[in-house]
Amino acid sequence: MQHFASDNYAGICPEALRAFLGANEGHAPAYGDDEWTRRVSERLRELFATDCDVYFVFNGTAANSLALASLCQSYHSVICHELAHVATDECGGPEFFSNGSKLLPARGVGGKLTPDGVLEVIARRSDIHYPKPRVVTLTQATEVGTLYRPSEVAAIAELAHGRGLRVHMDGARFANAVASLGVSPADITWRAGVDVLCFGGTKMGLPMGEAVVFFDRRLAEDFAWRCKQAGQLASKMRFLAAPWLGILEDDAWLHHARHANAMAQRLAAGLASVPGAELLFPVEANGVFANLPAVVLDGLRVRGWRYYTFIGAGGARFMCAWDTRPESVDALLKDIWALSV
Ligand SMILES: Cc1ncc(COP(=O)(O)O)c(C=O)c1O
Repeated sequence: MQHFASDNYAGICPEALRAFLGANEGHAPAYGDDEWTRRVSERLRELFATDCDVYFVFNGTAANSLALASLCQSYHSVICHELAHVATDECGGPEFFSNGSKLLPARGVGGKLTPDGVLEVIARRSDIHYPKPRVVTLTQATEVGTLYRPSEVAAIAELAHGRGLRVHMDGARFANAVASLGVSPADITWRAGVDVLCFGGTKMGLPMGEAVVFFDRRLAEDFAWRCKQAGQLASKMRFLAAPWLGILEDDAWLHHARHANAMAQRLAAGLASVPGAELLFPVEANGVFANLPAVVLDGLRVRGWRYYTFIGAGGARFMCAWDTRPESVDALLKDIWALSV
């Protein structure tokens, strides 16, 4: 049975697994001095069409926390959406690793910040008693499955840079966003003003690992030491790096992300005709958020389905992954239907 609780429930995609196993040849230099790490860093520079600095860490919480810490002093603050993973699901990691930089949540429809919402937080206070805003963080795709268009990122980044703030992007589902928007990775990041991207690998089909991509290389100063101190420097780095080579080849990452997005569309289309079901957000990536009658939600659990109800702004969250089968979506819909009538 496939589940819809999280895209992390899926296994490793074949391209990443092949590359992972392929790296298991003999001895290789440790701590990132290996050929795989060099090649995938080069490949990411090609993908983003710029000379960025790339680091690999084990998970998204570390990527976000360490990236934000590298942008802030302890007396600074980070403006985020109130539903942002950094604020709701990282156990205080960004505050901890930055030695206390404060997260300042802002409201915004559909899980998205707007220039006005960001400006309201920046302009609220400028006195010495308030943590000085230093970073705006955007999540792409957002925690509720919506997307920022390049013009929306650019408008926020222009405001942020004009006020001396940096722009960080939590791209745990960056692949789903790029696949859905049909834009180039460069256009939705540094060309729109993003300074640092946490490019999610785990949810797109890697065994684990995220890439922290610094488009402004000056911001990466000492980042390697920050990773080491945080326990995020993989000694056998080749195994963190190699799966990226597999998934980036022939655009497998986009192919898988497009599939996950299509499965979310299939689910959303099916839900549209279920009595009492209501979609809570536009389905733009691989997540579907819906209000369903309690009897349906309870009944689904009894039938063995797993989904989350604590993410976002209420309702049930159904995530599709690179391996979600159309039959699994249809089986879920069939049970929802059966419980609704
Ligand atoms: C928006 C977002 N950011 C970051 C992460 C990464 O978290 P983790 O530390 O579990 O890899 C997740 C995972 O659920 C997420 O949904």
